[in-house]
Amino acid sequence: MASKLWEKNFSVNEEIERFTVGRDRELDIYLAKYDVLGSMAHITMLESIGLMQKDELRQLLAELKNIYNECVQGTFVIEEGVEDVHSQVELMLTRRLGDMGKKIHSGRSRNDQVLVDLKLFTRHELREVVEATDALFRELQKKSEQYKNVLMPGYTHLQIAMPSSFGLWFGAHAESLADDMLFLLAAYRMTNRNPLGSAAGYGSSFPLNREMTTRLLGFDSMDYNVVYAQMGRGKMERNVAFALASVAGTVAKLAFDACMFNSQNFSFVKLPKECTTGSSIMPHKKNPDVFELIRAKSNKLQSLPTQIQLIMNNLPTGYFRDLQIIKEVFLPAFAELKDCLAMAAYIIERIEVNEHILDNPMYDPMFSVEEVNRLAAAGTPFRDAYKQVGMEIENGTFHADHNIHHTHEGSIGNLCNDKIAEIMDKTLAEFGFERVDEAERSLLAAGE
Ligand code: ARG
Repeated sequence: MASKLWEKNFSVNEEIERFTVGRDRELDIYLAKYDVLGSMAHITMLESIGLMQKDELRQLLAELKNIYNECVQGTFVIEEGVEDVHSQVELMLTRRLGDMGKKIHSGRSRNDQVLVDLKLFTRHELREVVEATDALFRELQKKSEQYKNVLMPGYTHLQIAMPSSFGLWFGAHAESLADDMLFLLAAYRMTNRNPLGSAAGYGSSFPLNREMTTRLLGFDSMDYNVVYAQMGRGKMERNVAFALASVAGTVAKLAFDACMFNSQNFSFVKLPKECTTGSSIMPHKKNPDVFELIRAKSNKLQSLPTQIQLIMNNLPTGYFRDLQIIKEVFLPAFAELKDCLAMAAYIIERIEVNEHILDNPMYDPMFSVEEVNRLAAAGTPFRDAYKQVGMEIENGTFHADHNIHHTHEGSIGNLCNDKIAEIMDKTLAEFGFERVDEAERSLLAAGE
């Protein structure tokens, strides 16, 4: 058993080690790159307050840059007997540079280290979720415009209700994503604050320059109160999970609609055959498995805030090892959502729309309100018109006029997709990803 960062004159029982390390050796790989960035910022600041020599800083930064590259190349591993990513990086530095490697931990605890790692990781992943969400949004808006003149039945209670259109259907899911983007923005803002310097949760007697690490890491500002900074562990993950769940909720509904509309009984849309799967027994089958899996994964993602909430339930102030377990559900969630978003966009781009649904007279009753409104506009009181059309439908004399004129905002004839895009663009402009790129680039350049 290798020694621990905290080991003194007794060694730890192997079973206890297995249980407490848990899945950290596998999960901390998600955080490795960011752990290195956090250390680069931290030691740059340590040198500026006189806790490290210039030459030591130079050598450590260069070695950290090497470790960063190993992370990018996928060769970075957390060795057997090493507890976590924080210990592994420090071990590699001391192996390569001797005692100066041990200096990097002054004024820091693994508690604020894992916090900063999680923030940097989440910031990066949120950006990718934002980009994938935006891509699906654009695709849905494109389809909405393309098919704005193709009518389809609208349902309430899953009973044929009123005329709708593919323009409305695609466009509705797009607008839903524009709202979800607000949650992603709030989650991003909360994430993009620096917890480094809170140490074990109560700060440090070293005169740490937190402004400096905030700037070096490209954070918008810091989590000021050191106690609150630690409270952010779990809270940040839960709030980000809410935002992910909001997007997942939109995607799950889209997937359900698409599966249903693709069924022969509806035949409103058709998935291209290369996007369907076959059956081992029924030779005619072209199943919408992709949308079914998107639906299940997105539904599962909607349980994420609750899972996190329950893990951190009722913890008092301060660090607890409980928080480690959140990583198990939180870290892999981003890849799953991005995958769902990308697959949904891929299929929406290729989905075929049935332009002749309404040839089937089964759907004629959905024009009943149009007829009532036409009579009412011509002077018949609404209640009388309602009764008259109702009777015509009952006795089979109703004639459905498929020419409809809806003009108000957000209706079939006036989708306002441009206004919805404006809302989305306004939200997107507020993220400010360029500031982060710039900061990370110059931090890494310091290791050249
Ligand atoms: N693996 C730990 C976590 O994820 C790192 C922090 C350990 N800190 C501690 N005080 N035991 O929370």
